[in-house]
Amino acid sequence: LTVLGLNSGTSADGLDLAALTIERRPTGVRVVYRAGRTRKYPPALRRRILTCADSPEYPLADSIYLDNLLGEFYGREAAAFIQKLKRRGIRVDVVASHGQTVRHLPKKVAVGNTRQRGTLQLGSIDMIAAATGVVTVGDFRQADIAVGNEGAPVTVAATGRLFADARSPRLIVNVGGMSNYFFFPATRGQGSIAAADCGPGNSLCDLLCDRLFGETFDKGGRHAAAGTVSQRLLTLLLAEPFFKDKTRSTGREAFGPKLADRIIAFGDEFGLESEDLLATAAELTVRSIAAAVAPILAATPMIDKMYLTGGGAHNRFLCKRLAEVCRLPIGSVAELGFDPDLVEAMAFAVMVEACLRSEALPTRFDHTPPSRKRETLTAVLGRIAQPPQRARE
Ligand SMILES: Nc1ncnc2c1ncn2[C@@H]1O[C@H](COP(=O)(O)OP(=O)(O)O)[C@@H](O)[C@H]1O
Ligand SMILES: [Mg+2]
Repeated sequence: LTVLGLNSGTSADGLDLAALTIERRPTGVRVVYRAGRTRKYPPALRRRILTCADSPEYPLADSIYLDNLLGEFYGREAAAFIQKLKRRGIRVDVVASHGQTVRHLPKKVAVGNTRQRGTLQLGSIDMIAAATGVVTVGDFRQADIAVGNEGAPVTVAATGRLFADARSPRLIVNVGGMSNYFFFPATRGQGSIAAADCGPGNSLCDLLCDRLFGETFDKGGRHAAAGTVSQRLLTLLLAEPFFKDKTRSTGREAFGPKLADRIIAFGDEFGLESEDLLATAAELTVRSIAAAVAPILAATPMIDKMYLTGGGAHNRFLCKRLAEVCRLPIGSVAELGFDPDLVEAMAFAVMVEACLRSEALPTRFDHTPPSRKRETLTAVLGRIAQPPQRARE
């Protein structure tokens, strides 16, 4: 089965496309990477996404239009890539599209006399199916919510199909808008899989860069490298509710513009340089990753490297600080043969192969059931949209 995976993360920097051929074998699933690329969002579309994601009162009608605008953009980009692949003799059977997260609300809150959580990804999969003429699968998070989980992380099993190794345990850390880790013990050994969000990835640094330097991101971490960490600000940031809460996932609601505003106000009050604010935000990312992986490193001395994926893998300063704080060599998944910018798009492609077989993919590996009533339920992740057909007459 050849699947085109599409993903746009919380950074809303662009659409990642990755085509994979997936084979079922008696021994498991074999994945062959065929081709991939990233398409930047036009600036006006990116602004629209970030306004929607960051405005608590964003109008419902505008959300509906954005769902279709994004569906059209993804459909156009997917169709162009499918044509390009066709010229190379590669036929895409199905498209997997995660969409753009505009709300992630993992913590249950009182709604009327019930308690609810939820998550929302935009980018109409029906628009993609119509533009490409190919069956399209999306909405990977809703079924996980329906069985009592947070709707994140959902790519754990699929990421394991890409990275798990028979002999070596693997520690993979994705530094996108948020950061998250995946631990896969050696498949021939013992130990259990673990995965969760760590905290912010690049989101705060991107927002600070935009506001303080008029740049979309801190290339190579050069502004952060030129600053000094404010221990006082760092202590405040490490006291954010996410680090104490029991939720396993987070988003721009916790590490987005509201927190960036507070950081800038703190800087004004205590006379910090812009570079110091960048250095402190980058340090928050490093410290939250280090804290999240510390129990795994302590329990698994065989881990000899942390492999990064996501845009953060290109940030040299961040990599250097991670190596110092975690006392572990830091590499990129490129060393394992994967493009660090396409890993999530690949994971959604792998998930679709399972979805089409109605195979449920576990998302929790900590063996504590989310709720007693539903403890045995594991979701089949993904919803299917069919392409339109020509009228008969
Ligand atoms: N050369 C680089 N130096 C520093 N940061 C980078 C570099 N390239 C990309 N990034 C960061 O990576 C982010 C995008 O990462 P990505 O993995 O696509 O996140 P998401 O999954 O949230 O879209 C950018 O917003 C930027 O902060
Ligand atoms: Mg991205």
